[in-house]
Amino acid sequence: MELSSLLNRFNEPETLKMAKLGRELRAKGIDITDLSLGEPDFDTPQHIKDAAKKAIDENFSHYTPVPGYLDLRQAVCEKLLRDNNLKYAPENIVVSTGAKQSIANVVMAIVDAGDEVIIPTPYWVTYSEIVKLVGGKPIMVKTSFENGYKITPSELESHMNSKTRLFMFSSPCNPTGAVYTKNELAALVAVFEKHPDIFIMSDEIYEYINYGGQHESIAQFESVKDRVVVINGLSKGYAMTGWRVGYIAANAQISKACEKIQGQFTSATNSIAQRAAISALLSDMKPTFEMVTAFKERRKIVMDLLKGIPGIICNEPPGAFYVFPDVKCYFGKKTTNGETINNADDLCMYLLNDANVSTVTGGAFGEPNCIRLSFANSIENIKKGFGKLKVALEQLT
Ligand SMILES: Cc1ncc(COP(=O)(O)O)c(C=O)c1O
Repeated sequence: MELSSLLNRFNEPETLKMAKLGRELRAKGIDITDLSLGEPDFDTPQHIKDAAKKAIDENFSHYTPVPGYLDLRQAVCEKLLRDNNLKYAPENIVVSTGAKQSIANVVMAIVDAGDEVIIPTPYWVTYSEIVKLVGGKPIMVKTSFENGYKITPSELESHMNSKTRLFMFSSPCNPTGAVYTKNELAALVAVFEKHPDIFIMSDEIYEYINYGGQHESIAQFESVKDRVVVINGLSKGYAMTGWRVGYIAANAQISKACEKIQGQFTSATNSIAQRAAISALLSDMKPTFEMVTAFKERRKIVMDLLKGIPGIICNEPPGAFYVFPDVKCYFGKKTTNGETINNADDLCMYLLNDANVSTVTGGAFGEPNCIRLSFANSIENIKKGFGKLKVALEQLT
């Protein structure tokens, strides 16, 4: 029997597909080293878990307001003021089942069939697929290695037209780790000022995982703030991926629209996770900073390990916990079984099946010359994984 045509409009996330393949091999007893992970390997800090346990005992077990508990939305406003100097009121905030749902809500609220959405590539896998799901047209704008994989004002402007409705980007970026500086954002804002009908979705979920400068939000620019939707969440910065808490900060028209959509899809995110999120947002950030220090140390190890693999070209990522090396020097080479590696997809499957290292193809992020390797893993596993990867790549002829 045929199912809906909607299913043919978008793909399953390649990141989840790789995780699934890795799990299947592991279930057969194969020792897979996972460098495909999109989440901190740390556990949720104790005080956040305690807040959740308390919430269960205090019977926070009923439906919550669709956009989230009022005191949670107040905590989000406090955080946005404290960390980003952004002023929002609780009616501007909608809490969702992870930033992924926040993004889906926003795209559904803004994009109509046929509308164009500009996405700098490489980009996070889900952006294009949600746009396609609602019948919109993703317009991919290729950024360059030389420019740190950041879109320039002229690249942005040259893709805008009367159908452009939304611009979607992340800083720090998954997969490249690119971080936009305040000056770079200001230059993009100058373009948006000339195009007042285009919304901006600023995904800041990796905000804290920034190894250099200060996090800058495009919402700080008053001339565009009303058109910016800030996306953030607790998954990455607080090691809370499974709890499913994300949120938006946006003008009241957009937040109301997202609330309406969410009211039909999920009603709200889980009550216990919401109570835990309040504790996370309002307490000491020490566990987050310790986690980031560990990621920074691992980043150095990974960059050194990459230097030992000939032909690979890689930026040191200023943010997030991935490296995104260009591996095209291996395309056209043959495995010991005589199979040709034609692209990054083939290379990832080779690495999984022959080296038992799980990675993600850059094709999933709109950059078919690269692969994504996560360093959200123990130093031991990183060394083991990169060791196996090096041997497997050296075997290609
Ligand atoms: C750039 C980016 N945005 C959003 C998300 C979604 O996060 P959440 O777990 O809050 O749904 C991810 C998760 O990998 C991500 O990498």
